[in-house]
Amino acid sequence: MKNIAVFASGSGSNFEAIVNAYNRGELNATPAVCVCDKPGAGVIERARRLGIPVIVASPKDFDSKADYEAFLAERLSELDIDLICLAGYMRLIGPVLLGRFAGRIINIHPSLLPAFKGAHAIKDAFEYGVKVYGVTIHYVDETLDGGKIISQEAFPYEDSDIDELETKIHALEHRLYPLTINRVISINLI
Ligand code: GRF
Repeated sequence: MKNIAVFASGSGSNFEAIVNAYNRGELNATPAVCVCDKPGAGVIERARRLGIPVIVASPKDFDSKADYEAFLAERLSELDIDLICLAGYMRLIGPVLLGRFAGRIINIHPSLLPAFKGAHAIKDAFEYGVKVYGVTIHYVDETLDGGKIISQEAFPYEDSDIDELETKIHALEHRLYPLTINRVISINLI
């Protein structure tokens, strides 16, 4: 079984969906560790509740971003991590991690990329007035929400309730991310 690390900065609902899929026997990989760059983020408590080890490391406690990423790369190597899954990790991945995990870092984004990159994708798409929303999972490169697309799923939404829209998008994310992790592992890493 391959090992994955989930990187998150926030609430961690995607992290929990991945762990739940594993616990149901639906994930072909072991969520071995959660990496969080924000002390106090909700994902830390979720990880503890779910019994998954957490590495909490803040870049500001290191001399440079390279040192921070080298520290993480070392820990991830010790844990035999095969794939890094970003799930609401609010930082660009730098050359150190990209070099050590080339082609083995993926991200989930709550829009149909390349539309609506950035931290406020759902609100931006809603305010733009699009009629079709969706979720993208893509390989990570040095650019914001760039990298080759692995999977996308779309749905129509024309109502004016952004809370309902967000709930739909997150439900789609929680279903699509475990399926896509399985696909990445079967295609690329075995
Ligand atoms: C998700 O919408 C994800 O697509 C985006 O950040 C959000 C993270 O939510 N990159 P959560 O922390 O998994 O609940």
